[in-house]
Formats: sequence, structure tokens, C-alpha cells
Amino acid sequence: MNEQQPQNSQAETTHFGFKTVAKAEKQQLVAQVFHSVAGKYDLMNDLLSFGIHRVWKRFTIDCSGVRKGQKVLDLAGGTGDFTAKFSLIVGETGEVVLADINSSMLEVGREKLRNLGVVGNVNYVQANAECLPFADNTFDCVVISFGLRNVTDKDKALRSMYRVLKPGGRLLVLEFSKPIIEPLSHLYNFYSFNILPKVGEVVVNDADSYRYLAESIRMHSKQDELKAMMENAGFDNVGYYNLSAGIVALHRGYKF
Ligand SMILES: C[S@@+](CC[C@H](N)C(=O)[O-])C[C@H]1O[C@@H](n2cnc3c(N)ncnc32)[C@H](O)[C@@H]1O
Repeated sequence: MNEQQPQNSQAETTHFGFKTVAKAEKQQLVAQVFHSVAGKYDLMNDLLSFGIHRVWKRFTIDCSGVRKGQKVLDLAGGTGDFTAKFSLIVGETGEVVLADINSSMLEVGREKLRNLGVVGNVNYVQANAECLPFADNTFDCVVISFGLRNVTDKDKALRSMYRVLKPGGRLLVLEFSKPIIEPLSHLYNFYSFNILPKVGEVVVNDADSYRYLAESIRMHSKQDELKAMMENAGFDNVGYYNLSAGIVALHRGYKF
């Protein structure tokens, strides 16, 4: 599939949380967020999700169908939670690539995985999801977890993921989504806009990055919108699971 699309004009805008910014500016703003939070990213993940992100990630791995000897791309992989698990599953004959646009997140991930003894079948690549530096038909599985909403041109990124998947390969998108129970939405809104920035201020000395987290979740595509985007990018048999009543959704699609 051709990734070359007409150039967007500089005047074109997109969302950075609730703010409207020039498309050219968003990548830099997102970079600042992840440079700022990288050192405490794992701690904050556990604190803010009460550890539940581990259950969502376990479910994603169970749905991946990844086996020994396969090639997996952990895209926007940050501190490498998926890379650590997939490295064990694919074994010596397989390979996992941890790719992220942000050097601070990659550095924290590399250090963590080395300390865990994850070496040998893992490679680290600094890359933008919109234009992946891999050959066509390379991976059996691409996983992007809590990464897609930060990408400026999500359609372009989805086409890029499709291109690098082998025929028969699958994409798993784990991302915040739209709660399906209304009373939960109110509680969740209170938590997101009041508690998240406060915890960010106390632990990372950065309330703004966690305000962006809450806002970016609200601005991200809902379950059926993301499903349609994946279908538009070429994926077949696209479906999704709501996790924790839709606070998070796991979308899966195939390249046939
Ligand atoms: C919330 S973290 C998720 C990390 C990890 N996947 C996880 O689930 O814990 C989002 C990651 O997306 C990365 N990211 C943002 N925009 C990206 C892009 N255009 N291409 C690749 N990675 C990107 C960030 O640098 C950050 O590491």
C-alpha cells in the first residue's frame, strides 16, 4: 500500500488534548510529554491504573496468537512491557522490535529490559509510526498499546502498520476508549480531570502532562470509529473487545 499521501499544509490543525494545534506542532508537544514522564512512566502506570494495565496487556498477549519463532513489532512500545513478554514467547528463533519515536522512553525501556535479562532476540529502533523503517511484509504481529492516540496522522500510521505486516499477520491496538456504562463515565471523568493531574504533580512534578493524558483520551476515536479506520487502512476481520467496561478497548485486525 502506498504511504505517500499529498503533503498536508502547515495551516492544517489537529488536537493536542483539548487544544487545537498545527499538525506540524503536535509531534513536538507529544515528545515533550514523554521526555518529561519517561523516568517515572512505569510507576505512574501502576499508580494511575491501580495495576490494571497489566491485566489489559495480559489479555492483549492472549489475543495475539504469537508463537515461537515469530517476528513481533512493539510499536510506540515505550518502556517495553510487551517486548519483555513477547521475547519469551518467540524465543531464540524469533525476534521482537521495540520501536518508539521518543529517545527517553526507548532508553528507559532498554535499561529495564537489560535488567530483566531480556537480551538476544530484541532490537531497539527509534521510529515514527507514520513511516515505519521496515520492509513490506516483515512482521507476524504488530502491537501498539496506548500509543495511537498520540500519533498525529493515525490513518497514515495504520497504513504503515498494514504494510509491514506479513500476509496472515495481525495488528492489535490497545487504547483508551469510550466507557459503555453512563454512571461510570461521570466517576471516570472526575478521576481523569481531578485526580490524574494531581498525582502527576506530586510524583513527576508535571501536572500538565497528565492533564494532556486525560484530554487526549477524550479526544481519541471511539470503538466503532477506530474499527472503521482500521478497515480503511486495509485490515480485514476487524473486531474489538471492551475492557473494564470500555475504559479501554482492544482492537484486532488481519492482513490477508
Ligand atoms: C503511553 S506510552 C505507551 C507505552 C507502552 N506501549 C505501554 O503500553 O506502556 C505512548 C508511547 O507512544 C510513543 N509515541 C508517540 N507518538 C509516536 C509516534 N508517532 N511514533 C512512535 N511512537 C510514538 C511515545 O513516545 C510513548 O512512548
